[in-house]
Amino acid sequence: MQTDSNFTFVLFGGTGDLSMRKILPALYEAHRAGMLEASGKIIAVARHEEDRGGYLQWVNEHVKAHVSKSGIDENAWSSFLERIEYVKLDLGKAEDFVKLRDAMQELPGTRVFYLATGPSLFVPICRALASVGLNENARIVLEKPLGYDLRSSNAINDAVGEIFAEGQIYRIDHYLGKEPVQNLLALRFGNALFEPLWRREWVESIQITIAEELGVEARGDFYDNTGALRDMVQNHLLQLLSIVAMEPPHSMDSDSVRDEKLRVLRALKPIDPRDISKVAVRGQYHAGVIRGTSVPAYATEPGVKTDSATETFVALKVEIENWRWAGVPFFLRTGKRLADRVAEIVVNFRAVPHSALGSSSLRPGANRLVIRLQPNETIRLYCLAKKPGEGMNLSSVHLDLAFDQFFKEGQMEAYQRLLLDVIHGRLALFVRRDEQEAAWKWVEPILNEWAASGKPKPYAAGTWGPAAASAMLAQHDTCWLEEEN
Ligand code: BG6
Repeated sequence: MQTDSNFTFVLFGGTGDLSMRKILPALYEAHRAGMLEASGKIIAVARHEEDRGGYLQWVNEHVKAHVSKSGIDENAWSSFLERIEYVKLDLGKAEDFVKLRDAMQELPGTRVFYLATGPSLFVPICRALASVGLNENARIVLEKPLGYDLRSSNAINDAVGEIFAEGQIYRIDHYLGKEPVQNLLALRFGNALFEPLWRREWVESIQITIAEELGVEARGDFYDNTGALRDMVQNHLLQLLSIVAMEPPHSMDSDSVRDEKLRVLRALKPIDPRDISKVAVRGQYHAGVIRGTSVPAYATEPGVKTDSATETFVALKVEIENWRWAGVPFFLRTGKRLADRVAEIVVNFRAVPHSALGSSSLRPGANRLVIRLQPNETIRLYCLAKKPGEGMNLSSVHLDLAFDQFFKEGQMEAYQRLLLDVIHGRLALFVRRDEQEAAWKWVEPILNEWAASGKPKPYAAGTWGPAAASAMLAQHDTCWLEEEN
């Protein structure tokens, strides 16, 4: 695989929401930071705009607003626009792909095809690219969701795999591009301190939460056919889990890391359909109040069926069947319209076996590591310390590492990192087919059971989801982090 950094980046779905909010802003940031080869080109592909002038006007009107906090540098913005070409393309017309090939003829370097489209278009686009020879010396980027279940994702992977080799396929899970997720690897494998403790003998339970305040926004139609299990658990949460639980890889090359993640995914204890109600909670938000603002119920959102049984909240108890983690519950949770926007990993260590210092040191959670992924990336280690004054009274204290204070600059958005990785041919942060299959296999019994029976439990928007999610932890004598006082 060629690794030169000159490139032609072809963006299918060039006027779509993802291009507008994430991909073009990320490319602009990379350009502004001087991280893109000067002669690299971006070719946007869409049906709606007639020509380059019309497309650039659309970019000016829609993309600028999504460029980061640092704002727009007008010089960098105009030189960024110079990189952009436009090809009006109708996917059904073979001659339009000839037009695309002609537009790329003289352009050197690696070809990247980013499919920011629905998954039903992945295969037709790949086939059409192959029909004009554009699959040679190329990388293809597939956005999630990749399929709807194991069967449909296999069908896409099989068909794309006939045209592109696995090493040319970049399956995006944007959580893997987040700085703090990278930091998790650094924390675990760059420090000897945690490794001896990172196992069943010392860890009592682990929680991984991705909570959102936002509802389904303008995506009701898509979301109602998807639900939180497919949208967040099958990919982001299981990827985070595999990074938390994996064995140290022998190097950071793409297959070493992905092999280790795969081992975790394959070691997930299969869920017996009869146990689903004990280890899985699904919820759907009703009207409520978030930060003083009333928000409507999920079932009244545009695009959502009024009698929808789609879950907007999931909590799961997961176990990993290997020596390191046998018996340690991993609690995963995600939901929309929850009380806060937060993504964090909580590692609860076991209490000391005996304390001469009184019962407070025997309390669960006395030693705990909280890795806050967003917002305000922080690593916080909780310990007990003696309260000043007379007697031996213990109190919880913490050591904090706030990344934005420590590293004042250089933070990179997930999409920027991932797009640069594609351009440079680095696969480590992309999901390999076997990982994806293992994740689908594991969630499938839950998907099937939920599709066949019952409805999600209601929760009011602005809360932390159905009470059953707390009850599930209570059975293990623990609670979600925010429930501690
Ligand atoms: C996407 C989901 O993959 O991740 C969305 O489709 C969700 O529903 C989003 O809102 C969350 O990402 P982030 O980076 O905002 O936490």
